[in-house]
Amino acid sequence: MSFFLSWIKNYVKNPLELGAILPTYKFAANLMTKNIISNEKTIVVELGAGTGDITKSIINRGILQENLILVEINEDFCKILKQRFPKAQIFCEDAKTFFYKTISNEKKIDYIVSGLPFVSMSKAQKMEICELSFDNLSKNGIFFQITYFVKCSFPVEIINKNKLIKRLIGFTLLNIPPAFIWSIARRN
Ligand SMILES: C[S@@+](CC[C@H](N)C(=O)[O-])C[C@H]1O[C@@H](n2cnc3c(N)ncnc32)[C@H](O)[C@@H]1O
Repeated sequence: MSFFLSWIKNYVKNPLELGAILPTYKFAANLMTKNIISNEKTIVVELGAGTGDITKSIINRGILQENLILVEINEDFCKILKQRFPKAQIFCEDAKTFFYKTISNEKKIDYIVSGLPFVSMSKAQKMEICELSFDNLSKNGIFFQITYFVKCSFPVEIINKNKLIKRLIGFTLLNIPPAFIWSIARRN
């Protein structure tokens, strides 16, 4: 089955978990990754990697597949990700479980690129994922989030508590739905 048909089938089954009617188009994917500066050691975690359209853009920025960690809850999408990115590390599970089980607050992640549908998650769930993300991001690490509303879905409580800075770094109408791209980082 093609990526597209797999997406439509899963969207019909569980629209809230997917959060977007179609996978991200390349214009929005490129905005998501435009601030990634790569070298052979740069580690990127993508949360909610879907069928891999933002992943492709991350790799085009020079990130090695071996340094790319893809987290995706949907099993059909994980199979597609394994085919498309055979050298990436793929975790077919909830983002929260991934952080608890796999990562031990080592602060080695340079970038987190998130397509997670925070808008359809409970407040507690999104707060926990965002808190865990900053527990694991390096000092100068950046969290990128795509949203389909002008309001950033990254919880303001986590921004205030950790004295983070949120910036709108991109917007495109060439996506369904139109996309806003945010960066969230520590004040350095
Ligand atoms: C808006 S889609 C983005 C997909 C892809 N990044 C793209 O841009 O085309 C959100 C993705 O997050 C995944 N997802 C939803 N909740 C999740 C969770 N708790 N943990 C991991 N992935 C999740 C969905 O299955 C879906 O693939």
